[in-house]
Amino acid sequence: MPRGHRVALVTGAGVRVGLAIARDLERNGFRVAAHYHSHRPPGRMVALQADLAAPEGADALARAFRARFRRLDLLVCFAAGFEARPLDQTDAGAFDSQMDLNARAPLLLARAFAPLLRRCHGSIVNVADVGGGMVPWAGYSAYAASKAALVRLTECLALELAPEVRVNAVAPGTVLWPDGYSAQRRRELARRIPLRRAGTPLDVAEAVRYLAGAAFVTGAVLPVDGGRRLSGRIG
Ligand SMILES: NC(=O)c1ccc[n+]([C@@H]2O[C@H](COP(=O)([O-])OP(=O)(O)OC[C@H]3O[C@@H](n4cnc5c(N)ncnc54)[C@H](OP(=O)(O)O)[C@@H]3O)[C@@H](O)[C@H]2O)c1
Repeated sequence: MPRGHRVALVTGAGVRVGLAIARDLERNGFRVAAHYHSHRPPGRMVALQADLAAPEGADALARAFRARFRRLDLLVCFAAGFEARPLDQTDAGAFDSQMDLNARAPLLLARAFAPLLRRCHGSIVNVADVGGGMVPWAGYSAYAASKAALVRLTECLALELAPEVRVNAVAPGTVLWPDGYSAQRRRELARRIPLRRAGTPLDVAEAVRYLAGAAFVTGAVLPVDGGRRLSGRIG
């Protein structure tokens, strides 16, 4: 299959890092289906809307995708919720909403797209986070648990979908600051990163492309964090 005909579906591709990854894949020869929830992606990518926090969202997205595309070479799961919540503010609803979107949705997406991915010998790249996915994070228990679940899910799915489909994850550190972080907070956090800077969406895009093409790599979780997980505290 010529490079130009490979198809990627990126969830959460309307804004921020997900949009940057979708554009990077497009620049690198993929035809991209860009999923969004409330922010439609700009440009000429095929845009597909779905609420992935809803139990039926993954199947609805798969139906909309199959109406437009016959193949799927790469599924990249970027859509997620990111909530800072100390323990006393984390009730059942807050916990469930992080788990539903950050862990359950990638599982349901893998299930919905598995037949197509198997047929195309495609791969999945889940987007975890070093915070929670690899290192504990005080004040973010629900988010952290959801990303830890996503890491284990990636490993289980790598076993279950082999040998036709590879399943990997990237675990970014800070690559785009959350809105509202002051300049001082950004400087303090950057000082804790061994490489002394925040990353960029392009750093993540390169890792996604590496995993998409790494034919003997499955069940891997690749940190893209400037070494932050090694330096003790995340938050
Ligand atoms: N930013 C960083 O430095 C960083 C660091 C580590 C990990 N990450 C991970 O990278 C990913 C993107 O993070 P980000 O900071 O770029 O963006 P973000 O602001 O966390 O974006 C959230 C994304 O999730 C989508 N989304 C929210 N609710 C949804 C729902 N109910 N159904 C479907 N999609 C929904 C949003 O779509 P709409 O906007 O269209 O609603 C948006 O595309 C996340 O998985 C995050 O955990 C980011």
